[in-house]
Amino acid sequence: MEPAHGKLGVMIPGMGAVATTFVAGVEAIRRGHARPIGSLTQMGTIRLGKRTAGRSPKISQFVPLAGLNDLVFTGWDIYEDNMYAAARKAGVLEKELLDKVNKKSSGAKRLVMIWCGSTEIFLQPKAVHQSVKAFESGLLKNDEAIAPSMIYAYAALSEGVPFANGAPNLTVDIPAMHELARRNRAPICGKDYKTGQTLLKTILAPGFKSRMLGLNGWFSTNILGNRDGEVLDDPESFKTKEESKLSVLEQILQPKLYPELYRNFYHKVRINYYPPRGDNKEGWDNIDIFGWLGYPMQIKVDFLCRDSILAAPLVLDLVLFLDLAKRSSELQGIGIQEWLSFYFKSPMTAPGLYPEHDLFIQLMKLKNTLRFLRGEELITHLGLEYYD
Ligand SMILES: NC(=O)c1ccc[n+]([C@@H]2O[C@H](COP(=O)([O-])OP(=O)(O)OC[C@H]3O[C@@H](n4cnc5c(N)ncnc54)[C@H](O)[C@@H]3O)[C@@H](O)[C@H]2O)c1
Repeated sequence: MEPAHGKLGVMIPGMGAVATTFVAGVEAIRRGHARPIGSLTQMGTIRLGKRTAGRSPKISQFVPLAGLNDLVFTGWDIYEDNMYAAARKAGVLEKELLDKVNKKSSGAKRLVMIWCGSTEIFLQPKAVHQSVKAFESGLLKNDEAIAPSMIYAYAALSEGVPFANGAPNLTVDIPAMHELARRNRAPICGKDYKTGQTLLKTILAPGFKSRMLGLNGWFSTNILGNRDGEVLDDPESFKTKEESKLSVLEQILQPKLYPELYRNFYHKVRINYYPPRGDNKEGWDNIDIFGWLGYPMQIKVDFLCRDSILAAPLVLDLVLFLDLAKRSSELQGIGIQEWLSFYFKSPMTAPGLYPEHDLFIQLMKLKNTLRFLRGEELITHLGLEYYD
């Protein structure tokens, strides 16, 4: 594993609410104005060896991650505002905090690109996406199946720069990008940050399944008033998001294995653009479950969350972990980084492999990957050795 020497340049297409909350947040944290709550790389620990060994270092001390002081940022947007002006407009952070952290920086030794741009219209893989050669000839012909996000990703991967996809867009989830990523040893991951309602879904649903509780229906609706909400008011963009949000329950609950519990459950997801709420989303879930002898029960969740506050620490972790993957001889050449599924609503996997959506399986996968990278024993939670 190469050490994390020098500055790490973070390139961000899309300087909206998430990107600016991330950048201003990192600046605030490194100046001691705030703490990195919600970030596994900054707050998390990792158990090593037996439970009796008492070894639980911080993740940031266990693997050689770039330090926050070594991050420098750049971004693109279709609006002309600089990051400071964009952050003021996004309205997530107060002006006083933004004024404290408004500055310029440069001098990167390594690069990572992370998509924080809007959700694009729904696209399905076509012939032009099947190989690097087909994609490159499509670029020359301005093929309309090539989305803007794919052009950013192509530029990054062509230079061997890792790419993370924070939106549900197709972007790097096509054979052409897998090929390019492996060829140029540029790690890739996606899609769609797992925050808000889907985060809760992937926490609750594994619990119901563990206890063999059945599900009749899950209705999720929310109101939000940021620009993301406005974009998702467009049916074509909403379809991209809907596909991403709907997929999680089916995989976690496995109706084919448990037909009496999960066959025919009704799953509905709605997003309503409501400007007065700005970035402060309110999400309601009504969950109809059933238990012993089929008796029905209901659970209601009312999550008053802040979209970009939940997403910003994910951006930080993804940047640091992708940079780590790029410096790791085991990970840099494999393309898709499935161990980063923890952060996504629609985790990318090798073709033909179903994704793991259960947050706790995803966390175990992530931590075992870190143990593997450092030559530590993987933790299976078997624990029989304590009873010899
Ligand atoms: N906040 C969350 O909890 C969350 C969770 C999952 C996914 N996401 C996704 O993250 C993305 C960013 O969310 P946000 O709240 O910051 O949205 P936002 O609308 O505030 O910001 C997106 C920015 O991308 C810009 N943009 C659009 N197309 C572009 C292009 N081709 N090149 C450069 N810039 C472009 C827009 O002008 C806008 O400023 C969205 O796709 C959203 O769906 C957010």
